[in-house]
Amino acid sequence: MFRKQILGLMLVSLLVACTQQKDPVERKIDELISKMTLKEKIGQMNQLTGEGLSVNMKKEIASGNVGSILNETDVKTTNELQRIAIKQSRLGIPLLFARDVIHGFKTIFPIPLGQAATWNPKLVEAGARISAIEATSTGIRWTFAPMIDIARDPRWGRIAESCGEDPFLTSAIGVAMIKGFQGEKLSDPTSMAACAKHFAGYGATESGKDYNTTWIPELQLREVYLPSFKAASEAGVGSFMCSFNDINGVPSSGNEFLNRQILRKEWNYTGLLVSDWASIDQMIKHGVCMDLKDASKKAAKAGVDMDMMSYAYICHLEELVKSGEVTEKIIDNAVRNILRLKFKLGLFENPYTKVTFAMPFYTDGALQKAKQSALESAILLKNENQTLPLTEKIKSVAVIGPLSDAPADQLGTWSFDGDSSRSVTPLAAIQKEFGSTIKVIAEKGLLNSRDTNPLGIQKAVAAAQKADVVLYFAGEEAILSGEAHCRADICLPGAQSQLLTALKKTGKPVVLIIMAGRPLTIAKEVSEADAVIYAFHGGTMAGPALADLIFGKAVPSGKLPVTLPRMVGQIPIYYAHKMTGRPAKNIVMIDNIPVGAPQTSLGNSSYYLDAGDCPLFPFGFGLSYTTFNYSDLRISKNSISKGDSIKVECKITNNGKFDGAEVAQLYIRDMVASLARPVRDLKGFQKTNLKAGESKTISFTIKDSQLAYWNADMVNRAEPGEFQVWISTNSQTGKPIIFNYK
Ligand code: NOJ
Repeated sequence: MFRKQILGLMLVSLLVACTQQKDPVERKIDELISKMTLKEKIGQMNQLTGEGLSVNMKKEIASGNVGSILNETDVKTTNELQRIAIKQSRLGIPLLFARDVIHGFKTIFPIPLGQAATWNPKLVEAGARISAIEATSTGIRWTFAPMIDIARDPRWGRIAESCGEDPFLTSAIGVAMIKGFQGEKLSDPTSMAACAKHFAGYGATESGKDYNTTWIPELQLREVYLPSFKAASEAGVGSFMCSFNDINGVPSSGNEFLNRQILRKEWNYTGLLVSDWASIDQMIKHGVCMDLKDASKKAAKAGVDMDMMSYAYICHLEELVKSGEVTEKIIDNAVRNILRLKFKLGLFENPYTKVTFAMPFYTDGALQKAKQSALESAILLKNENQTLPLTEKIKSVAVIGPLSDAPADQLGTWSFDGDSSRSVTPLAAIQKEFGSTIKVIAEKGLLNSRDTNPLGIQKAVAAAQKADVVLYFAGEEAILSGEAHCRADICLPGAQSQLLTALKKTGKPVVLIIMAGRPLTIAKEVSEADAVIYAFHGGTMAGPALADLIFGKAVPSGKLPVTLPRMVGQIPIYYAHKMTGRPAKNIVMIDNIPVGAPQTSLGNSSYYLDAGDCPLFPFGFGLSYTTFNYSDLRISKNSISKGDSIKVECKITNNGKFDGAEVAQLYIRDMVASLARPVRDLKGFQKTNLKAGESKTISFTIKDSQLAYWNADMVNRAEPGEFQVWISTNSQTGKPIIFNYK
């Protein structure tokens, strides 16, 4: 008996010691959870969309039935709702306000795909910081960004929100956004928790149609679709969001493998996992749940902490716990993750937002950064006869096209808080900046990107005839990309292509500037235009940025974050493809096949008769007004072994006439492995400024861990053998050197 008592005492003191050692936040969570009723816990797991100060919302908050509200952006309203949560709910747990601050709140930056084209994480981080400062001034402390889905299908409207096709680039840009949104410390009132979304595989949506099914082998999932999420988790992202799609038949909101095995067990992630909008409910439509109660059970068991707008948890979790179908431990864990984020954000100490007389919107600093970001996101695809930049010889320009003066469209998708009256369009910027020295003839021609009015074409041609150069701003309206806005044909819509042909016939040099939410198939247009800039939707300051590039006040440095296909039938097309057993050779295009030619298997190789084997422009491509020469590629040693690293260097010389910036890209290829490996794999990049005539040596370190890949045994390991390494200006050029992994 005496021994038992001593043992008991020892156990108690051990427990006390453990609790004392526990992180103070965890202790606070324990304490709070111990006071919460089951109903209050479930209330924390419920996220509702804002209804202003509706009677119903006030009642729900006071009853402790709401943990978070999205889409409420008026600071007086957020403060008032917060006051109700603090003062009227039994435990006074603060609300967490959320919003899709995707590429800016008021000051809109280029769409994420455009930001990825800057290949400049520091600039992206600065943009996200500004977005956080603007958004938090209204009470928003949680943004549903970055979207780090790998997107290899430009038909998918959400490619606009992505960072493109490559896991390495997406990770770098995504982490930069996370750092910017979250700031130095989450508890800073200008910090917002970021959200890594959509977990996972949403970008693999079949046929590029939104919300569609995905079929992703585990190897591909781990190699292509998960690394950006792992990087986000390692960067301390505050939350994750489930994706809408099913993966191999299992919707993400009910996917235990993704949400428990990978996210929690393998990555030890302790942040909050939120469903997507009504995605728990949608498991019924997917055909894997009988009703909302069933969906609620599946989602809770799969580890989804918060229900966004399905009303599944609030309606059914209590009865599911009472009947023993869902354990209270599951609920406690979810609540723990939610409260942890609220504590980290400092919401318990500072639940209210300071109302300032002047909101921190559109400050000079923010506009300047937005302009820089738009500048660096523009990609020069073609520049025949050095059409660009325009020189003093040009005395007049015709500014034409539906995107030349479209303040709302240049903001792109997901910019509902941006005020389009603050947008500076290309036409406005050209008139303001250069209108005093040259004649600016403005004629949209087509009123919007889908317009087909032949009269508009005539007017535009008449304007072009009066000018020395034509600046043709074509592309897509904002509404043609983004969520649920997919296209099966990704050509320039409306009569924009016909307008280009008509403009070209005037004999005037034509500069084509594409402002779009996705890669478009523009092979014919590129061949017709003298110069082409691919600008995506550049945000509030797209106009001044493009004007500076066109008139040579700035030099293009953007590079494609995604492959531009020639034809839609090439999709999916991406640089990191695997080699076939019959790589393309002796390409004979469709018109060169003799009529009546007999079938032969000799020389058969992998290409399309009508599109050949190449994209229109490869991943990583982008020209400058100057030229860069790569030379002296060398490695520190010829072989590396486990735990080792290798240094790769090369010299880059700006041998043109302009100062400029170049994005040097590091690629590797595993030559022989137990599974076929991509022909190239991005492992690093550096953006470097070089004055005209200047040379710099740049160097990268490759660690052995970067040579690893997921093999058939589902192990991430490097295999001994030969590797090629390139430092090059895009994914298709350069000469590799070889090293060995032993
Ligand atoms: C649905 C979208 O898929 C998601 O990205 C977004 O954050 C939510 N709606 C909330 O607006």
